Amino acid sequence: MRAIRGATTVQQDTPEEIRAAVKELLETIAEENALALESCISILFSNTEDIRSLYPAKAAREAGFSSCALFSAQEPVIDGALPLCIRVLVLAEGDAPARHVYLRAAAGLRKDLGKYAIALDGPSGSGKSTVAKRLSRELDILYLDTGAMYRACALKASQCGIDVSDEPAVAAMLQTLDLRIEYRGGAQHTLLDGQDVSEAIRRPEVSMAASKISALGCVRKKMVEMQREIAKQQSCVLDGRDIGTAVLPDAPFKFFVTASVPVRAKRRFDELCAKGYTVDYAALEKEIEERDRNDASRAISPLRRAEDAVLVDTSEMSIEEVVAFIRRRIQEKV
Ligand code: DC
Repeated sequence: MRAIRGATTVQQDTPEEIRAAVKELLETIAEENALALESCISILFSNTEDIRSLYPAKAAREAGFSSCALFSAQEPVIDGALPLCIRVLVLAEGDAPARHVYLRAAAGLRKDLGKYAIALDGPSGSGKSTVAKRLSRELDILYLDTGAMYRACALKASQCGIDVSDEPAVAAMLQTLDLRIEYRGGAQHTLLDGQDVSEAIRRPEVSMAASKISALGCVRKKMVEMQREIAKQQSCVLDGRDIGTAVLPDAPFKFFVTASVPVRAKRRFDELCAKGYTVDYAALEKEIEERDRNDASRAISPLRRAEDAVLVDTSEMSIEEVVAFIRRRIQEKV
């Protein structure tokens, strides 16, 4: 006999969500384990106490598991446990090794098995990209810098002489946009029309243009689709402004990384000076404030902390301390 385990989560305790989540979980278990419905002996669900409106067992019947025995139990309340979570144990005939399946936010419960995402959101200069790179190396997962994608859109608009706030012109430009993200030696390279623009998109004038172009719905739609596609393929850490709120709202690990404006301006100042740019510190501080305002006040997916994101104020923390803090929080949740 085979004992296959799995889990999934819902965003809200509604029959529709539970039905869809259970169907997806059972279908994935069946597919990954080449499981015929008739070989299924019984399915035991155990649900966190906030799952009430429809027993997952009922959803299993509706998903076609009509002849096996179904049980549904409620878990005791455990402090800090993943909320709105449905666990399953499927007993089936056969002796092939079981492939356990953990989906959505539950993927974080068994990082050894499934793909998972770490969302790092926050304003510019908060240190999130340095932290994301370190985490990706330590955890051996991909790092996706989503800001680079908006920067590449802004660079393309500038090359085409398009005003970044002219939405119809930008929408037309997107039709033929050839933007690719590639990885070489573990480092992200941003390719525009086949050219590596990884350095060019870091130019100071591209920063403000990226902030402006990223407010357009047509740009966000296209970038978010690309980001989800990349995140679907493998475990990764993504940094941006809307990863935890809009791109991957089901990400099991979410952090909102921030720091005071002077600290962020100083970091950006040092970074640009090290690259040989001549920069005016006061102008940089003003630009950071303006970019924060743009990013936080735009109508679509503004920069904001997801309700379930852990706040990390890095103003007085070293990179090592931030990475250690985030790793500890991930460890505690697994
Ligand atoms: O992280 P960054 O400074 O490279 O990002 C450049 C701009 O892109 C930033 O001002 C806002 C925008 N951005 C966004 O709107 N959503 C993201 N997920 C990432 C960046």
